[in-house]
Amino acid sequence: MSFDANTGAVRSSSGTLHENHQLILEAIGRLSPTSVHEAGCGGGDHVANAQMLYPNINVTGGDRGFTQLELATQRHPQLAGKIGLQDITMPFSNQWPRADLVYTQAVIMHIHTAVSHLVALSNLVEQANEYVLLMENQQCHNFVADLTALHTGGHLKWPDLHIYQFESSIGARATLLSRQALELKNLKSDAQLRKGVKVSQRRLKRANEDSARGIFGFLTNLKT
Ligand SMILES: C[S@@+](CC[C@H](N)C(=O)[O-])C[C@H]1O[C@@H](n2cnc3c(N)ncnc32)[C@H](O)[C@@H]1O
Repeated sequence: MSFDANTGAVRSSSGTLHENHQLILEAIGRLSPTSVHEAGCGGGDHVANAQMLYPNINVTGGDRGFTQLELATQRHPQLAGKIGLQDITMPFSNQWPRADLVYTQAVIMHIHTAVSHLVALSNLVEQANEYVLLMENQQCHNFVADLTALHTGGHLKWPDLHIYQFESSIGARATLLSRQALELKNLKSDAQLRKGVKVSQRRLKRANEDSARGIFGFLTNLKT
């Protein structure tokens, strides 16, 4: 596997890299962080691949599943000491490894309990020095609306929040949050994010129900 800094593309010699994994590896190469953390790293394959491709970047991973982490260290013994138990829906812990780039893949999309996904998004931003990359099903939550409401309501650590669409060299898409402005496509709405995606009314309904449970900021105007 190799990253070409001129094209921003990652190529695998075996040709078996999934397009979502390729996007994550390309995001790391293009954003050039000094440290990367995967929240909900499961069996650790992405952490191991990222560390192999970018040996000078400190890559860590967290997961709330003990058996997942056991599996990860069996599959990738070199990850011992770099991965740990972490529940991203718990109150923020200063023991979580901070990283320039924190990412999730297929984690937040599965969280539908109370306001846990909002807590998780807020925690991801706090854990990241510069960027959060969300490789998630874009219909499972109203990511743009929820993040905007979290930011407006004062729930995010970063003073500024920029929400972008990140595209891989082969057109895969993910959501990139950045503390600083970047020259990427701005995301203003979830409709923009979902353009061209086959609609799932069931998912959209659940996403709206999840968003509706959020109470953002401190509202003192109580007139109805
Ligand atoms: C579908 S798997 C994805 C694993 C990995 N990101 C990948 O793409 O291969 C979802 C993972 O998220 C983890 N997870 C779910 N909720 C979590 C939470 N609140 N905090 C941390 N990890 C969580 C699960 O234990 C599981 O390993």
